[in-house]
Amino acid sequence: MLSLSFKTLSPFLSFSPPKPQPKPLFPSNYHQISLCSNATSHSSTLQTERGLQFEVGNSFFRPESFTGRDLAVLAAALYKRSKPELRVLDAMCGCGVRSLRYLAEADADFVLANDGNDENRGLILSNLSQIPRFSGDNKRWVVTHFDANRIMTECYLQRDFFDFIDVDSFGSDSSFLRSAFNALKLDGLVYVTSTDGYSAGGHRPHNSLASYGAYVRPMPYANEIGLRMLIGGAVREAAVMGYCVTPLFSYYSYHGPVFRVLLRMDRGKLTDIRHYGFISYCHKCGNSLAYSWDELGNISCPCSEAKSPRSLVVSGPLWTGPLHQASYLTDILNLAEEWGWIGEGVGLDLEKLLKQMIEESNPDLPFGYTKLDEVASRAKVNSPPLRTIMSALQKRDRKAMVLEIFMEGYAACRSHIACNAIKTNCPMTTCISIMQELQDQ
Ligand SMILES: C[S@@+](CC[C@H](N)C(=O)[O-])C[C@H]1O[C@@H](n2cnc3c(N)ncnc32)[C@H](O)[C@@H]1O
Ligand SMILES: [Zn+2]
Repeated sequence: MLSLSFKTLSPFLSFSPPKPQPKPLFPSNYHQISLCSNATSHSSTLQTERGLQFEVGNSFFRPESFTGRDLAVLAAALYKRSKPELRVLDAMCGCGVRSLRYLAEADADFVLANDGNDENRGLILSNLSQIPRFSGDNKRWVVTHFDANRIMTECYLQRDFFDFIDVDSFGSDSSFLRSAFNALKLDGLVYVTSTDGYSAGGHRPHNSLASYGAYVRPMPYANEIGLRMLIGGAVREAAVMGYCVTPLFSYYSYHGPVFRVLLRMDRGKLTDIRHYGFISYCHKCGNSLAYSWDELGNISCPCSEAKSPRSLVVSGPLWTGPLHQASYLTDILNLAEEWGWIGEGVGLDLEKLLKQMIEESNPDLPFGYTKLDEVASRAKVNSPPLRTIMSALQKRDRKAMVLEIFMEGYAACRSHIACNAIKTNCPMTTCISIMQELQDQ
């Protein structure tokens, strides 16, 4: 079992090492985490990411997570362009790849690379040694081995605040949210992760309730729910402390699976709860609706006038607002282009992802996505190509409820989360009719 090592305490923290503790300081599940990390670890190999070389040794490292790392580095670099400095706390750094990239690519002024497993120390030090340790009299990086909550709380107690905090955690461990917000500067960014696909899928509602305060039931757009559960949990935790957080982008990756969200934190109260509420899905008609707190008790689906409430599942409270900020993602896209990561036939996957996320940010689009297989099965037809149904939706007249006038087209785009699915504000019944019409043509 791993134990906390004080010999690795960084000199930049001025508190004195406490006396040796009889009990391990890691949470009780840390042992499982380390077993899990051994189970998926790679033998010592040299890896390359965006031209940077590093060893992964026996640390937990997933090469497939490079897109999540690319997005983090782009976000950190954008931050640095608009602020006087960039201080990064990489709270669960593994082999230190992100710390290295924050230093080399985002030009971070300082990175605190922390990983609870002190067996990774040699590896992290060797990977970071590519970057000069000092810039003038100032250290550019430091390596520590504390429990993430502990290091972030110590930084907060020392009033040593960070601009960007990256917590690349396993499972649905949300216990670090509060300590991360504590250690973050106002207007700073925090990049958080969940890998709990079971909770997102509604298979562990008690677990999602404990971790994120959301009772999550099975819904067809489970992987988007996973992101909304994580954002909702962060929104609530920030509100406890008098902060408000806004998602700048939300990224789901099926490797893992991994749910990642970049949040900006500011001072503010949870007075605007428009985007923190409940979501229903009706198994009978396939429609989804969002409910505010005031509407609790009046939840029913128009298709059945509360006669068959069993057809309805409700999840929440969770984040029902936009998953991303389009203007922010456009800046990220432009920076990626400037760096030559996309454009002229390179970086097609990253470019496609960012463009899809920008389209998903259309404020006319509601939460969730509609799987074409579900529409096809309800319509009892073969599913047409995604492009065909999207263009039919965009051309179809829709009735504006308030003004009783007809407007042109539904909003529709692909979802970065599910490949054969669309995000649209078109009700399921109309999607079914459109698909049937397409079949008859
Ligand atoms: C998902 S891996 C990190 C991967 C790394 N960020 C990357 O991009 O390659 C999670 C890391 O967190 C460390 N860890 C797990 N629980 C921790 C805790 N409570 N405090 C600090 N580190 C922890 C593990 O040793 C592991 O290296
Ligand atoms: Zn219904």
